[in-house]
Amino acid sequence: MKTIICGGTIISASDEYKADILIEDGKIAQIGIDLSKIDVDEIIDANEKLVLPGGVDVHTHFDLPMFNTVSSDDHYSGHKAAAFGGTTTVIDFVPQTGNDLKKDIDGWLKKSEPKAAIDYGFHMNISIFNQDVADQIPGLIDLGITSLKVFTAYNSTLRLPDADIFKVMRIAKKYGFLTMLHAENGDIIEILVQEAVTAGNLTPEWHAHTRPAWGAVEAVTRGISFSAQTEAPLYIVHMNAAGEVDQLAYGRDLGLQVMGETCPQYLFFTVEQLLRPDGSKWICSPPMRSEEDNQRLWLGIMEGTIQVVGTDHCPFFFDGSKSITYEEIDIKIPGKELGKEDFTKIPNGLPGVGDRLPILWTEGVGKGRITPNQFVAVTATNPAKIFGLYPKKGVIQPGSDADIVIWDPNKRLTYGVEWSKHRTDYNLYEGWELEGYPVKVFLRGKCIVDGKKWQGNAGEGKFIKRMPFGQVI
Ligand code: URP
Ligand code: ZN
Ligand code: ZN
Repeated sequence: MKTIICGGTIISASDEYKADILIEDGKIAQIGIDLSKIDVDEIIDANEKLVLPGGVDVHTHFDLPMFNTVSSDDHYSGHKAAAFGGTTTVIDFVPQTGNDLKKDIDGWLKKSEPKAAIDYGFHMNISIFNQDVADQIPGLIDLGITSLKVFTAYNSTLRLPDADIFKVMRIAKKYGFLTMLHAENGDIIEILVQEAVTAGNLTPEWHAHTRPAWGAVEAVTRGISFSAQTEAPLYIVHMNAAGEVDQLAYGRDLGLQVMGETCPQYLFFTVEQLLRPDGSKWICSPPMRSEEDNQRLWLGIMEGTIQVVGTDHCPFFFDGSKSITYEEIDIKIPGKELGKEDFTKIPNGLPGVGDRLPILWTEGVGKGRITPNQFVAVTATNPAKIFGLYPKKGVIQPGSDADIVIWDPNKRLTYGVEWSKHRTDYNLYEGWELEGYPVKVFLRGKCIVDGKKWQGNAGEGKFIKRMPFGQVI
């Protein structure tokens, strides 16, 4: 099968140029001018449109059991929502349930393989650590799982003691893993939550008050110091506070192998959101901060301190006692209402995988905060490079997978839950006016989104074995 996308303007992380793209057997075969003369099966007209590499979202949680419920997008509905928003590759986290990492990975593959509609990889959470686990970690490289997430918070569940994080990072250095850090101070959170509960402070904003920014800043600094001492690369996930960005800049100025990711929610929202009657919609960990934090995060992206905008997509229903219709089936999954009376019981997490590109384009490129090249860099090329997917993913060049988004920079719409295809009952950006949206999305050469039409299928997404960590960008 041969297809040509002709007449579009290709945007890469560094260039912008008008050219045609020949796609052959799912790969980009050629880029040039006047390719439309070649005999092909299909010609796609991209005149007046931009042509971008498919987005790479390296931070999703599909079908994740937590808080006596499960995140409401599974590996099909989440992939479909991602595709509608211009993302063609995701990396999801495998939770560790015991001492057998392979068992957890096989379990996650079993859930995802039949449902996957876009390409995907896995990170491995390391939340239980002992010699047995340490011995199994190196074997993950052969499975194509080349990143490990560790936590300095969630004391009774996911947190590792500092000594174990240090040991994990030594293994990471030796075998070529990238360590990802969830940076908050678990001990202080425990104290503050206890105090809030005892004082009867149970409304959603207390979720934020009990997870202070200083804890995040301190934990980022701790992580950077571990990176310095182990000489292992470190990637800070979901950066949310100004001081974290300052510390990351400090580490990078020293030449340390440290990188960072933020997510759209931390660029646009503040703790004020949690005061709304529907404040639980914005509950995630780490929490929303202040406008100063939003501004510093934007600056971090602009100056290159932060390399990636991911999503931490982990949606729940706002009111899981009522069903929504998803692909003609009524579905309801317990959600934020579980914590109506007590913020400690609100499932942490929010939707975003489909929102990321459209929101960042309008608010970032449209408002002059970032260039179109920076947009491509932080949403596709940098995450692909950092997580061992490049140049298969994250770039439009001969030999790469033909994961391509035809983007209409002039498309105007009022965004919200109707547009985003997340399997939940709300959208954080309800009513936002957007300018710029995907019109066609290709996965390995197949058009899976054509305007409002879904042409993808469960099971068509492939698990991608990623390469070991390469280099810091
Ligand atoms: O609230 C969040 N972010 N839930 C997902 C888990 C995590 O820590 O990334
Ligand atoms: Zn996290
Ligand atoms: Zn997460």
